[in-house]
Amino acid sequence: MRKGIILAGGTGSRLFPMTQVVSKQLLPIYDKPMIYYPLSTLMQAGIKEVLLICTPNDLPLFKALLKDGSQWGISLKYAEQVEPKGLAQALIIAEGFIDGGLSALILGDNIFYGDSLPALFTQLCSTTEGCFVFGYHVSNPQDYGVITFDDAGGASAIYEKPVTPESQYAMPGLYFFDERACAFAKDVIPSSRGELEIVDVVNRYLDDKSLKVAKLGRGTAWLDTGTPDALSEATQFISAIEKRQGLKINCPEEIAFHQGWIDDNQLKRLAQPLLKSGYGEYLLKLII
Ligand code: DAU
Repeated sequence: MRKGIILAGGTGSRLFPMTQVVSKQLLPIYDKPMIYYPLSTLMQAGIKEVLLICTPNDLPLFKALLKDGSQWGISLKYAEQVEPKGLAQALIIAEGFIDGGLSALILGDNIFYGDSLPALFTQLCSTTEGCFVFGYHVSNPQDYGVITFDDAGGASAIYEKPVTPESQYAMPGLYFFDERACAFAKDVIPSSRGELEIVDVVNRYLDDKSLKVAKLGRGTAWLDTGTPDALSEATQFISAIEKRQGLKINCPEEIAFHQGWIDDNQLKRLAQPLLKSGYGEYLLKLII
């Protein structure tokens, strides 16, 4: 079974002063904490064992919020990243947890939304070889890892925040790795910004011809929440769709229920303390 890693450390430096006392992944995106979104993405993919990596300061807060995961029928473990030394460091910290197996790494501030995504992510979970990443058309590729494609549609190069991007395709913060990821991460040399870049791990797979890139189409949303504007836009996006449909986006309780990981009684127990917010009523309505 593929295991999940959520990287929720860092300083949220573009969101100061909001993140001086609390990690940005604990801030709300509309009606739920930001961390619910990446966790839900992993759960939708069928991943039940997750390691959350965060700063030592935030660890008790995340634990108070998410507990050991058993309330949602999953297992949640925690590990510290003492300093934000780069995304690839998550794979080194998670080495014992991954235990030589398959992993999916997701960034704690990335939100994925789209009808086709749960099936795609579930399917990728059952593949055993290579690395899978995604390409998402954005207006500001220079702010991300950028994927260049060859004529056959395969990835030909990936650069971290290139000054002059050769394509409009950013690489979102969700990566499916085979068992080589930790070893590749250990080989990474810190970049000029002093970080172990995830792009360097992905490029090892590219060099080995075992990287696959799926372009996420227009009907999908990948939101990042690193700036006050992005945070506000993500909230507006989730709010608009949830209100229109009367359905919640990335609600872990609902996903656990639909996956058959919790039963009616457990859903009722989870709903009880949330009744005043409307969130609890929503959960109760899921029980037919
Ligand atoms: O969002 C997707 C992008 O994420 C990718 O396209 C890039 O290739 C990848 O490098 C990364 O770029 P960012 O510049 O957005 O990464 P940032 O430093 O903002 O960190 C992303 C999240 O990970 C953020 O919530 C903080 C957290 N983080 C970051 C670092 C460097 C950690 O928890 N630990 C870290 O060491």
